[in-house]
Amino acid sequence: MIAIGSDHGGYALKQAIMAHLDKRGLAYKDFGTYSEASCDYPTYAKAVAHAVANGECERGIIICGTGIGVSITANKVPGIRAALCGDCFSAEATRQHNDANILCMGARVVGEGLAIMITDTFLDTPFSNDERHKRRISMIEG
Ligand code: RB5
Repeated sequence: MIAIGSDHGGYALKQAIMAHLDKRGLAYKDFGTYSEASCDYPTYAKAVAHAVANGECERGIIICGTGIGVSITANKVPGIRAALCGDCFSAEATRQHNDANILCMGARVVGEGLAIMITDTFLDTPFSNDERHKRRISMIEG
């Protein structure tokens, strides 16, 4: 199960990503926001981050205008490794090296087509399981 959330700035892109997940047959839970009315991004970033941290969902996707506010917020939750990505190289590398469990994107930064490619790359790339990367990840919260 994928947890997905956004603020008003990311609402339209969230709808597009959910339509893409539907096409791929991937299950997700939408933690809001549910309209383009102005709202506070930490509310939705925290909801997604807690769902991933407590095991309700395996991965998360959070979108705001820049992707910055949601990534700062999500990374405050223990166990969360949220990666702000604006390109496919970073999305692939953060899965392989950081075992990132949440993808953050900025809807005012990336277009819909690129955001979908970044999402697919993030969801389809496994963690490398290399010892050096496991050691470094354990050092993040250790
Ligand atoms: C909302 O205007 C904007 O501040 C928000 O979407 C995000 O970019 C914050 O980091």
